Amino acid sequence: MKRREGISKLTGAEQYVDDLPLDDFLWGMVVRSPSPRGQIRDIRMAGEIDWSQFVIVDARDIPGSNAVAAIEHDQPILADGYVRHVHEPVMLLAHPSRDALRQAVRAVEVVVDPDEPVLDFTQASTPRQIQYGDDNVFKRIDVVKGDAAAVFDAAAHIIEGEYRTGAQEHIYLEPQGMIASIEAGVVTVRGSMQCPYFVHSALMLGLGRGEHDIRVIQTPTGGAFGGKEDYPSVIALLTALLAVKANRTVKIIYDRSEDIAVTTKRHPARIHHRTAVDDAGMLQAMVIDVLLDGGAYVTLSPVVLSRAVIHAAGPYFCPNVQIHGEVRLTNHVPYGAFRGFGAPQTQFAMERQMDRIADALGIDRIELRRRNLLRDGQTTATGQVIRDGVDRVALQDRAVKIADVERTREACKQFNAKHPYLRRGVGLSSFYHGAGFTGSGEVNLASRAEVAGLPDGRIEVRTAQTEMGQGMVTVFTQIVAVYVGYAERDIVIADADTAHVPNSGPTVASRTTMVVGRLVERACDDLRRMLGCEEATGDDLRQAIVRWHESHDDAELIGGAQYVKPSHIHWDDDRYLGDAYAAYAWATNIAQVEVDLRTFMTRVVEFTSVQDVGTVLNDVLARGQIQGGVAQAIGWALSEACAMQNGAMQNAHLTDYIIPTASDLPPIRVWFEQTPYDDGPSGAKGIGELPMNGPAPAILSAISDAVGLDLSHIPVTPETLMEEWLAHERH
Ligand code: MOS
Repeated sequence: MKRREGISKLTGAEQYVDDLPLDDFLWGMVVRSPSPRGQIRDIRMAGEIDWSQFVIVDARDIPGSNAVAAIEHDQPILADGYVRHVHEPVMLLAHPSRDALRQAVRAVEVVVDPDEPVLDFTQASTPRQIQYGDDNVFKRIDVVKGDAAAVFDAAAHIIEGEYRTGAQEHIYLEPQGMIASIEAGVVTVRGSMQCPYFVHSALMLGLGRGEHDIRVIQTPTGGAFGGKEDYPSVIALLTALLAVKANRTVKIIYDRSEDIAVTTKRHPARIHHRTAVDDAGMLQAMVIDVLLDGGAYVTLSPVVLSRAVIHAAGPYFCPNVQIHGEVRLTNHVPYGAFRGFGAPQTQFAMERQMDRIADALGIDRIELRRRNLLRDGQTTATGQVIRDGVDRVALQDRAVKIADVERTREACKQFNAKHPYLRRGVGLSSFYHGAGFTGSGEVNLASRAEVAGLPDGRIEVRTAQTEMGQGMVTVFTQIVAVYVGYAERDIVIADADTAHVPNSGPTVASRTTMVVGRLVERACDDLRRMLGCEEATGDDLRQAIVRWHESHDDAELIGGAQYVKPSHIHWDDDRYLGDAYAAYAWATNIAQVEVDLRTFMTRVVEFTSVQDVGTVLNDVLARGQIQGGVAQAIGWALSEACAMQNGAMQNAHLTDYIIPTASDLPPIRVWFEQTPYDDGPSGAKGIGELPMNGPAPAILSAISDAVGLDLSHIPVTPETLMEEWLAHERH
């Protein structure tokens, strides 16, 4: 099936939030903190501006709680006398002219008495820097399996390593934007977002309004990658506060620089590994320390840490594991959700550590992984028994075969012997990703999906899931088409509008197809049960729906389903033990790189990605997910560096924050093994985040093969590679 909204996107007919026709509205803009931390002493508004023409909102105008609803309510919507990060919103302005507004924002000076900020998350805070609890630690998580300490005393080999990953900006093509209006007393917010019900909750709390006095509608969304998971609550609140005060429609659209500078990014991480192995390279014990930079407020950091910690030991069996994780406050712009949600950081470290172990023992890097990959019946770090029928060794073997690693290694060797300054190498990573919310998360979400039988016999799917380019609309259409034997044109996917669809949970965590897709199937079962035709498909079902409406006037015919935990899943939230995820996708990546010893540029020459994501529902979309994820991870590995100075990003532009373009990308070979997952629609598992986890370590493994440098930090820019090379030469 072709992407349903594909033609309108290709032709430019699709209307994103900034394209929507709008009469009689005000533009909104935000006055922000210039300082990473301190008391606001004064807000000076320049005399040459006629401020009576502007709608002005500050913390005193907030009708509800001055808090952005999230895991904790520590983040103010507008600073109330104190700021904790650069770019923190302090005051809002609205005016019909965007130019006048830009000048006005520049004419406001926020004067801050500085307090000592925390800018390095790896250093313990001094007493004067404490801003959260006793020690600025937002969340600690410990995972303990077996007795790691006891093993180290008698270990044949102990290998240590420390690894670091940098912040990453999402660079969705469409920047963040919202329109807020008051429609028949209901505050209605339309905009670019992943999670309408997150925004809905945030507006209820901040505006102090009831559930039915708020309506949130997703507009066509030009990419998100987690960047529109938590942040849209902030910009929706800012827009709505102006609309409520002005009693007019207000629109805020960030330009690219503002978007890069002020919105969330991937959490920077430092991960330490200490591993005990026997002579054969079998993992005996691992002690892993995970540290994340959370930024100035809690946002989603505790759950990012959770996913980071759970994935930290990789797709390997080890009888004794001890993982400690911490996410700490710094006075940076808060970090937030980004594709992979902590797992790319910790698996980068694990895979680099596997290379280090292999090299120390003189075992081939591929063979070391082969020996340690989880076999069915073995347990993960949280003690989850993996028994999903996937042969992870065969999966890795398949990748090695497709990439023809043996021949490629030989070809690289010959190339390197002859070439004066280009060096080629091959590297590999094996990895995994748990789909759906962690632990009891899906139970707590209690998601609900509905399907409506329309009077003309068509079926409308009603969920809060959002299309952001990943293909939700197409895949849900396919799921229903296959399940009840309908043609695509007879299936309608409802807009994600809180006034019209139930709360089926957020569009995050690789959960949409696997978790909500299955709910949609069950809602179809419910619909047919109501009609007394459990087995009906196609025309029979359509006629049954039409007949029902003939005898029910204007009533709605709605089948529904609520999430039910698969009975074999058990999770202990206090001890962090058990089935962390209902299902995992597994994968191996193989990268071939070429390093130029004149410029220290690294080019990825070839890339192979082999994965088991269960049954593939749409081959083109699934390949697109993998290829897009690989591209995004190549950027994270090689070029995307956030240059931070005194808490602010210095390179908030696409001229100096460098993402890969088509010319930077290698051919990406994608191969799917398909082991069906019983609790997913037609056997499908989650796919969205998986491809972000593997490319960075595979690329660094290949760089190490090419030039003999074992790098442990990303991004590996030409500058950092040159420094490492020179330092290495001096030895
Ligand atoms: Mo996400 S990073 O689960 O939107």
